[in-house]
Amino acid sequence: MSQFRIAPSILSADFARLGEEVRNVIAAGADIIHFDVMDNHYVPNLTMGPMFCEAIRPHSSAPIDVHLMVKPVDALAAAFAKAGADIITFHPEGSEHIDRTLGLIKEAGCKAGLVFNPATPLSYLDHVMDKIDMVLIMSVNPGFGGQKFIPHALEKVRAARQRIDEYTAKHGGEIWLEVDGGVKVDNIAEIAAAGADTFVAGSAIYNTPDYKATIAAMRAELAK
Ligand code: DX5
Ligand code: ZN
Repeated sequence: MSQFRIAPSILSADFARLGEEVRNVIAAGADIIHFDVMDNHYVPNLTMGPMFCEAIRPHSSAPIDVHLMVKPVDALAAAFAKAGADIITFHPEGSEHIDRTLGLIKEAGCKAGLVFNPATPLSYLDHVMDKIDMVLIMSVNPGFGGQKFIPHALEKVRAARQRIDEYTAKHGGEIWLEVDGGVKVDNIAEIAAAGADTFVAGSAIYNTPDYKATIAAMRAELAK
């Protein structure tokens, strides 16, 4: 198993102090900044556009992982690549031409990935694995932070791990397996055991007073 990565979601940060919140969480040991983009169309909430990404870019020494919960995807994916995103993932339901959207993200120099809602089948991966750098399994329905982890997502994580391992054993390369939604200190070990290597946590980190202690507690669970 490759190394574990902790990706705090700034959705739960104090938006009035976003640059500082990004720096603080990186100083506390975060590996990746998870950036949730919601459009009030694909999901019933509205968050941050590319200008926010550009604004936090100088505050982040860590890769910025842009999770697009939008429909359509292509124009925003291009704008986020320009705004400094390192990784861009999107929901297959948001794009009419998944292969093309993955291709344009890669051509823009970013890592690309698909996101799977609790009821979205992994078969969307069937013909595009060569363009995938990350698979993101949602363990809540997207749209809001602070929701409860849906237990059957673990089965999906195991299935995704199997697909990734089979593909990389044959073709080489590296594909990260990220889980997003309801990840906490007390369930992160179980999610890792199912095969995840990258963990998004919004409220579990930003709603605690000591980010460093929380991230350390997550790493201690992962080391068990
Ligand atoms: C939900 C977002 C998540 C969210 C996770 O639609 O994609 O990234 O911020 O928040 P928590 O960790 O609080 O469930
Ligand atoms: Zn997310």
